[in-house]
Amino acid sequence: MSIIAARKENTTTAAQPAAKAPVREVAGTAPVATRGQVDIANVRKSFGATEVLKGVSLSVPPGGVAVIVGPSGSGKSTLLRTINHLEKVDGGYITIDGELVGYEVRGNKLHELREKDILKQRTHIGMVFQSFNLFPHLTALENVIEAPIVAQKRSKAEARKRGLELLDRVGLKDRADAYPRQLSGGQQQRVAIARALALDPKILLFDEPTSALDPELVNEVLDVIRELAKSGTTLIVVTHEMGFARDVADTVVFMDQGQIVESGTPQDIFANPREERTRSFFSKVIEPAFNI
Ligand SMILES: Nc1ncnc2c1ncn2[C@@H]1O[C@H](COP(=O)(O)OP(=O)(O)O)[C@@H](O)[C@H]1O
Ligand SMILES: [Mg+2]
Repeated sequence: MSIIAARKENTTTAAQPAAKAPVREVAGTAPVATRGQVDIANVRKSFGATEVLKGVSLSVPPGGVAVIVGPSGSGKSTLLRTINHLEKVDGGYITIDGELVGYEVRGNKLHELREKDILKQRTHIGMVFQSFNLFPHLTALENVIEAPIVAQKRSKAEARKRGLELLDRVGLKDRADAYPRQLSGGQQQRVAIARALALDPKILLFDEPTSALDPELVNEVLDVIRELAKSGTTLIVVTHEMGFARDVADTVVFMDQGQIVESGTPQDIFANPREERTRSFFSKVIEPAFNI
């Protein structure tokens, strides 16, 4: 069977996933991040006749922070959605700590996982969207503890204790009993971040987490993400906040037209872009006074 025919049945020729990330301990220091290695290998995705991901490869090490920037329509959201298998891929594969996302190898083919296994796998991958997507009829705390109770069968008492710790971490312990409509956009987004952390994910994905916020509320959300970046959680963040990208990213990834045009340190990408497309994009989005 050809690869294209195989794909139609959700199978394809298997590529070997990367080995599991090693466990490392460094004596006398804070634990080094040992989980959350993301490997995206030659991922392709089409909607109808339009190929929106044209062979994207990207690796993020445990505890790494990758910030993806690029024009609207370049495929950033689609790429994030393939990482937790909200979108199936048409080619290539993604692994997290060596485990294939959305597929398993049987024979020498990739077969899509059953829905139950996809949902289980997704609990390792937290996602925060532009529109906070909180349940309006649940309080902040209830929003945070819903998944641990339903998906992980945690006791209510245990989930509440952990939920309050997480709300404290995002600066909202005193608003635990507030409903989303009683919270500002920035506060709602911070609840959404606490909710994403509640399942103790290996990686966290952010899709333009501050784009729906009034300008004065952007920083309170970025500050929470900055703290997460320091804590050793692997983060992949799509944003237009270039100052944040410069300060927080280990790797800045510039995407255009379904491809990674280039990636590198903030210094590489902002100060010394190799590609004309990158230069042209930044000349439109970055203020002249932006300091590298
Ligand atoms: N579900 C879908 N069906 C059809 N086309 C889609 C779908 N989702 C995204 N697209 C198209 O894919 C391209 C990339 O979109 P997207 O990943 O949302 O880009 P970005 O997040 O960089 O703005 C766009 O042309 C968009 O219209
Ligand atoms: Mg998008």
